[in-house]
Amino acid sequence: MGSDGSTPAVTGLVADFDLTPWNTMGLASRAAFGAVVTGVDQLVALAAAARAEGLAFHVIGQGSNLLLRPRIEGIVAVMATRGVSVDDRSPDTTLVTAQAGESWSGLVEHTVTQGMPGLENLAGIPGTVGAAPVQNIGAYGLELADRFHSLLAWDLAEARTRRFDGSDCGFAYRNSVFKAEAGRYVVLEVTLALPRRWTPVLGYAGLRELPPGSDALTIMRHVLAIRASKLPDWRQQGNAGSFFHNPVVTPAVAETIDGGPRFPHPDGVKLSAAWLIDACGFKGHRLGSAAVSDRHALVLVNRGGATYAEVAALATAIRDAVRSRFGVTLTQEPLEF
Ligand code: EPU
Repeated sequence: MGSDGSTPAVTGLVADFDLTPWNTMGLASRAAFGAVVTGVDQLVALAAAARAEGLAFHVIGQGSNLLLRPRIEGIVAVMATRGVSVDDRSPDTTLVTAQAGESWSGLVEHTVTQGMPGLENLAGIPGTVGAAPVQNIGAYGLELADRFHSLLAWDLAEARTRRFDGSDCGFAYRNSVFKAEAGRYVVLEVTLALPRRWTPVLGYAGLRELPPGSDALTIMRHVLAIRASKLPDWRQQGNAGSFFHNPVVTPAVAETIDGGPRFPHPDGVKLSAAWLIDACGFKGHRLGSAAVSDRHALVLVNRGGATYAEVAALATAIRDAVRSRFGVTLTQEPLEF
């Protein structure tokens, strides 16, 4: 609440804002204040109001990587800015700039179908363009960082815009400075560098069967088909995608685990969280209206009317079981507030 008990006067700001339609897990959640942001000036005004009133300030996109509590204090800004532009002056790369509120999967489909290959492996990932760099989204052998040029962010601490090149972003597996310093920056627009001399990335299981000369449209359709066959669609069954990171452990720990996929990693060995959870018998397991998907053990789903408490309790039960059976601690992927 504002210091005098009123709603701060910023365009579009409403009290008791319903976030239920703004999280793909479909949890019932309300923010003290919220606004759908359609312009950068509006975002800046909201941030200033939060600061002036001493309120917490949260920014979300489509809410596809969120675990929301039922009641959120402060202001929640839903980034819904739109616009895409293309700069094809360079002989090496096509630069595509998209505003933060654009749909990521929409951008992938637009670029690939318009003859600008490069993002096809990242097709079908829910969420917005602005959220994509925050956790350095990745799938089927490609990460956002591989196609990243630069981004423009609002620095909440210094109240100014800041441009970030790839080397400024601290990109790592499902991580970046925007996640590590959560609450400091709001991504406003992202520029991607799509290679003119494109070659397909077909090394990931499921894509290896495609012919080496496959075009980007074929790869994109294949990725969408694999995703549809493996992952529950949040429109049919609420979920936030992978609920845990794939854990990186020491070779000594990896050796104690009998079975399951393992991948080399600079810091040790990367294991499959889905396999560990599956091995503990959790696939399809229910806790109230929350459940582990019966299609993919890494996805927690809302079977209808699930509460934050149920999802959190299920996540704790999974973490405890994996830790006690394998000595591996899983970390949660969705952000929580
Ligand atoms: N597996 C099981 N049980 C299952 C599902 C999978 O044992 O129910 C094992 C299988 O051995 C499989 C392995 O886990 O080979 C890996 O499964 P998958 O290829 O589906 O990949 P993942 O490691 O579980 C990651 C990303 C996904 C991304 C896929 C494809 C993370 C945390 N998740 O999942 O990203 O779509 O690879 O590249 O890195 C997301 O982050 O929200 C997400 C969906």
